[in-house]
Amino acid sequence: MTTPSTKPRILVSRAIFPEVIAQLEAAFEVEHNQTDAVWSPQELAARLQGKDGVLTTGGERISAELLQACPQLKICANMAVGFNNFDVPAMTASGVQGTNAPDVLTETTADFGFALMMATARRMAESEHFLRAGLWKRWSYDMFCGSDIHGATLGILGMGRIGQGIARRGFHGFGMKVIYHNRSRLDAGLEAACGAQYVDKATLLAQADHLVLVVPYSAESHHTIGAAELALMKPTATLTNIARGGIVDDAALAHALRSGQIAAAGLDVFEGEPQVHPDLLTVPNVVLTPHIASATLSTRRAMAQLAADNLLRFFASGEVLTPVNT
Ligand code: DGY
Repeated sequence: MTTPSTKPRILVSRAIFPEVIAQLEAAFEVEHNQTDAVWSPQELAARLQGKDGVLTTGGERISAELLQACPQLKICANMAVGFNNFDVPAMTASGVQGTNAPDVLTETTADFGFALMMATARRMAESEHFLRAGLWKRWSYDMFCGSDIHGATLGILGMGRIGQGIARRGFHGFGMKVIYHNRSRLDAGLEAACGAQYVDKATLLAQADHLVLVVPYSAESHHTIGAAELALMKPTATLTNIARGGIVDDAALAHALRSGQIAAAGLDVFEGEPQVHPDLLTVPNVVLTPHIASATLSTRRAMAQLAADNLLRFFASGEVLTPVNT
């Protein structure tokens, strides 16, 4: 007769690194999605029956309803720094621990944000499409002229770890003037390290040559950049969003890009992704990437490892490394 396993039971909601799954399997009974398909809320709730923990990748909503349907659940470990897919108050009320994956992706994501801003300012996607379409016939003095990065004013909305990484790149690497707006002002030492000057939001919008959004998504930050904010920006300005879809009103942005209200945009995140607003797909002056700011193998491996370490630590000692419940 076989005795039932007393190991905690874990669900992994999406395909992740096999070596991380192997570590989890050494400590837990693991069920894992072996594909990239996102389970529907109903399927997720069904698979979570009897599970003690779940490793999510950011696309799965952990809602009050789901928690009610899964009373055995004790921990949700997100393989992402953002955790707007978690209803944190409901988790706390149900005694469910939440964790995220900060720090390990900061520099990789800041690299990408800076690269996307540069690609946007220097019209790299637009000119590449032109070349691939066989339209390049001759040199022309004003062909695909963009705007400079060096010496320009870099505006950052949201000055957490990733925002600071982008500021350091702009200030130390490219001689940019850096201004920022954030819920709270950085201390003087951090401001000096980033070469950044605190301004109010209206000043940020009006003065930035290149505005980069790095604010967390919440009900309060929904459509932080809409038609009214875009109207405050320079017609030569660029806007880069590596934070979350929903922070920008994508329809208003498409209109601003088409009408020349701002020069260009670089977007890694979208409202309702992986769907992209159809108007954004038809304006030329936008660089579009599929939510890949943290996508290097070493960083994604570190994010998966941190999520796994949170689960391992939690079931061994009741502690976690990176809690999100306050
Ligand atoms: C995050 O970690 O929040 C990034 O958006 C990657 O998913």
